[in-house]
Amino acid sequence: MLNKVDINIEKFINDLKDDRVDEFYKHLSSGKKLRAKLILKIADNKADKAVVLASIVEMIHAASLLHDDVIDDANTRRGKKSINALFGDKSAIMFGDILYSKAFFELCNFPLQIAKSISEAVAKLSIGELLDVELSKSFNDNIEKYFDMIYKKTASLIEASAYSAAFLAGVDSDKFALYGKNLGLAFQIIDDILDIVSDDKTLGKPSMNDYKEGKTTLPYIYLYKKLDKDDKDRLLSMFKQELNHDDKEWIRAKMQSSGALKECFELVHKLGSEALNSIEEYKNSDLEKIIKDMIDREY
Ligand code: IPE
Ligand code: IPE
Ligand code: MG
Ligand code: MG
Ligand code: MG
Repeated sequence: MLNKVDINIEKFINDLKDDRVDEFYKHLSSGKKLRAKLILKIADNKADKAVVLASIVEMIHAASLLHDDVIDDANTRRGKKSINALFGDKSAIMFGDILYSKAFFELCNFPLQIAKSISEAVAKLSIGELLDVELSKSFNDNIEKYFDMIYKKTASLIEASAYSAAFLAGVDSDKFALYGKNLGLAFQIIDDILDIVSDDKTLGKPSMNDYKEGKTTLPYIYLYKKLDKDDKDRLLSMFKQELNHDDKEWIRAKMQSSGALKECFELVHKLGSEALNSIEEYKNSDLEKIIKDMIDREY
């Protein structure tokens, strides 16, 4: 089924009949397809429509990553050079716009509730990216602001995907939306943890990039609260700086010894349980597995 999603996206790209678009598309590798998996599992009784919806959402997601890599100055994505690194920021931005627009064009074939839900989520996603940029101007230790930002930039599209798939399937879309929202929040926290504990090769994108870019993600917020005065000063002195090997090792060690990472994982597990509670009556082991795999993942 995931294979069908790739074939469908290729068809959408071919519809655009443009050599530059074909060339850019060749340099995109495919990701984990979490959002597509989610849609296919929830709407498994409407497989054909679910494949098209999953393709639309994965195109939207790819567009958001094209823009995100410009924003975050990231030179690698999915184990390859990013489009901005290969063709420059201007091309990456326009290719992102092309993918968004084609996705919205195809979304017009779906019921209004679905088209509204997905397009509203994309507005939230972009507002979330804007908030992320704004928050990165100075050290942020405000947890509410962090959650508002990750809800918008990441959880909203996953929430809308689950809502829309449930709408297609004819099951309670509000309950699935809540599942998607909590899954999405947990997913971004894991992404923020992986930036710290993993390496470039495993991630397929730059590691230890968030703090350098001014992103005080949840592990940093928790860490800051746990450190003594001297260590707080040391952490603050590294904010938005190019980090050397010793700095990175110091951050990683403190993240472990302070219990900051442990606290993040506890919250992730809590969000995972809340996600599953909202769809308890549907007893869907595939959706349980999505939560488990999302938490245990390496990239
Ligand atoms: C990356 O998303 C951006 C975030 C929302 C954290 P994914 O981790 O789903 O990226 P791919 O599609 O698997 O590459
Ligand atoms: C998620 O944030 C970006 C989007 C929702 C587009 P990140 O900036 O953390 O994503 P990665 O780590 O680059 O994949
Ligand atoms: Mg990024
Ligand atoms: Mg980003
Ligand atoms: Mg990240």
